[in-house]
Amino acid sequence: MIYITRRLEFCASHRLFNPKFSDEKNAETFGLCNNPNGHGHNYVLEVTVRGEISPETGMVLDLKTLKKLINLEIVNKVDHKNFNMDVDFMRGVIPTAENIAIKFWEILESKIENGSLHELKLYESDRNYVVYRGERV
Ligand code: NI
Repeated sequence: MIYITRRLEFCASHRLFNPKFSDEKNAETFGLCNNPNGHGHNYVLEVTVRGEISPETGMVLDLKTLKKLINLEIVNKVDHKNFNMDVDFMRGVIPTAENIAIKFWEILESKIENGSLHELKLYESDRNYVVYRGERV
């Protein structure tokens, strides 16, 4: 068993708020991320797949194929977009890094043909990132 990772970047904006909260509670809960007109991040996403090495290719899967898949399914849909308004799969979800990572997982998991999705790491900044491994509590 071996683990391989593809790292990629995209830029997107969001605003964190809960429509059920008052303006005051939203400001108190989400701080700067509640800015009414949103704000942007340079996100970094690391996708790790685990699997066995094919004796014929010496690879788990071709990283070029993985890159194309991630670009098609995720990056093209979120890069230079607003998570609250432009991204269909984020409708009705507060676009925190946590929730974004879970949605990305749901999209990618069934589409990895060789090996299986092991971990998504989503950096919202150099210092803040979330890790998701598909575990439900
Ligand atoms: Ni933010």
